[in-house]
Amino acid sequence: MNENWIKQQLDEAKAQGLVRAARVYPEAGGIIKIDGKEVLNFSSNDYLDLGRHPHVVDCAREALDRYGIGSTASRLVTGTLPIHDELEARIAKEKGYEAALIFGSGYMTNAGTIPILAGRDDLIFADKLVHASMIDACRLSAAKLVRWAHNDFQALEKRLVQYGSSKVRKLIITESVFSMDGDIAPLKEIAALAETHDAMLMIDEAHSTGTFGPNGAGLIRELGLENAVTVSMGTMSKAMAGYGGYVACSSNLRKLLVNSSRAFIYTTAPPPAIIGGALGALDVLEASPRLGNILQANTDYFRSLLHEGGLDTLQSQSQIVPIVIGDNEKALAISRKLREMGIIAAAIRPPTVPAGSARLRLSVTLAHHVDHLERAAKEIIKAVTA
Ligand SMILES: Cc1ncc(COP(=O)(O)O)c(C=O)c1O
Repeated sequence: MNENWIKQQLDEAKAQGLVRAARVYPEAGGIIKIDGKEVLNFSSNDYLDLGRHPHVVDCAREALDRYGIGSTASRLVTGTLPIHDELEARIAKEKGYEAALIFGSGYMTNAGTIPILAGRDDLIFADKLVHASMIDACRLSAAKLVRWAHNDFQALEKRLVQYGSSKVRKLIITESVFSMDGDIAPLKEIAALAETHDAMLMIDEAHSTGTFGPNGAGLIRELGLENAVTVSMGTMSKAMAGYGGYVACSSNLRKLLVNSSRAFIYTTAPPPAIIGGALGALDVLEASPRLGNILQANTDYFRSLLHEGGLDTLQSQSQIVPIVIGDNEKALAISRKLREMGIIAAAIRPPTVPAGSARLRLSVTLAHHVDHLERAAKEIIKAVTA
């Protein structure tokens, strides 16, 4: 078949400043070397700088040495190793739930869980800004998707009242820390609404795991909402520095997922080194429970520097600090300029963020010390206000 349509689509994206490419970086982490020069990476999700932590690396290596590179099969065949079991038990305990289930990635966790909670004829109420993996999961579920204005629990209440009389299953989904805005959902109010309206509640804690709560267990735990939140979702791919995702939930829901979640059943079990690394990251979180507090205090300081320079950081209250530029090309130009100055601040454009809100999505990590934060803030202020 003629492939002109491919070029046409790419040309259209280019005209809108929306072409993307996977640039190769010579190293991973918050501070990296490029062509021998120190570069500050403000686009890494390794918030606690655990990617090269000796204990995390040792645990990953130990699992690799013991079990080899792969798990050899899917979880329900011969892919479940003792470390999968151990990690699920540890996650359940840390998160304050009866059980937990690991998936191959955070994306797969949402894709594998949401369609089990709600199906055709059911209702899913989603915050306007939830992550693409949740939206794709809603589409997979074939449930009716009802959106409510970002972090506006009164808008959610109106929606729940509007659909209140229906007898179908209802599921509310949101994030605790939002991936592109760094703001925090009104979890207590949302949990109360879920209870009043007899809806299930699933919270994506991808960006609050490791960074908030006791031992980095997240905001559900910090607020004591374990009983009110049906599914606490999280990932091992951000503050835990590795890869993979999980849900913490009741034993019965875990059993149902094991028996019916396609993203759990029809895929190879996560590889041993990744699971070993995640166990190592949990050890570090347990031994150093204040890492998240230090990260948030450092980010408060970074935000205050940006504010002093006249920049707006929306409602950010976490290690994720957005600076909205608006125009796609302008955001790209600022990102390029910062790169020349030794700062990586990726320009995030639609459809990852709403049209007209292209931005620098800055993430502070524990690799960044005070002098790094001050240097970065100075250059960012200069580049954005020029
Ligand atoms: C809120 C949120 N949920 C889920 C995911 C998916 O996680 P993963 O990268 O582990 O697939 C991400 C990461 O991009 C995210 O930001």
